[in-house]
Amino acid sequence: MSTLWIGTSWKMTKTLAEARAWAEALRDHLGGSAPTGVQPFVIPSFTATTTVRGILGDHSPVLLGVQNAHWEDAGAWTGEVSVPQAKDAGAQLVEIGHSERREHFGETVETTRRKVAAALRHGLTPLLCIGESAEVKARGGSAAFILAQAAGALDSLPAEEVSRVVIAYEPIWAIGEKGRPATVEELVDPFAALGEAYGGKVAGLLYGGSVNLDNAADLLGIEHVTGLFVGRTAWRLEGYLELLRIGQEHAAAL
Ligand code: 13P
Repeated sequence: MSTLWIGTSWKMTKTLAEARAWAEALRDHLGGSAPTGVQPFVIPSFTATTTVRGILGDHSPVLLGVQNAHWEDAGAWTGEVSVPQAKDAGAQLVEIGHSERREHFGETVETTRRKVAAALRHGLTPLLCIGESAEVKARGGSAAFILAQAAGALDSLPAEEVSRVVIAYEPIWAIGEKGRPATVEELVDPFAALGEAYGGKVAGLLYGGSVNLDNAADLLGIEHVTGLFVGRTAWRLEGYLELLRIGQEHAAAL
């Protein structure tokens, strides 16, 4: 049975008190083991990394991530955080190339390639985000666009290293307050393309973008989807717990 990844990035939300409350309640709910067939993960802001690690403990079934990390190990890069620093703070996973970082912070295919390599070099799991704009989708170029993003970041790596990468397909038009939930029909072709290129070769093929409690089960049913990467719905712990439950139910039926 393959594992379903069910995780959240908090983006730029939550004070330490809020982070603490969410993490403590999750820890207490899980009681030391993940729902069967599910790999939970949480990606707080850098400021909450050590706090959340301390609450979850070193042997938590919940993987802890950071939302970005630099490709160099150390140096004169004001405002940046390196993979060794993220690891030192307790992170096991590094989110790379989210569309918000590509749009607002100059992330490119080349920087995602370097960051994936840096995460792998230090034994962390890269969570590579890919996704096309509404314009690209409108001209029918979704699959080619996301395959090019993935290939640019991954195809120079040996297969063994690719097998440690998680890919999250997050169409820009479906993300956040300005996005609209994708229909299952809209996602079948992109996931068919991703499945053909990376199915069985990476650690996970996740979907993200306006995942909610009404569409999560259907999204998990799309061929090649092995998890969900969630923003808003999971920022309230009750929402995240319900997504874990949906994931467990889906895993049991596989
Ligand atoms: P939303 O679930 O809030 O649309 O955000 C998705 C996302 O960008 C996760 O990285």
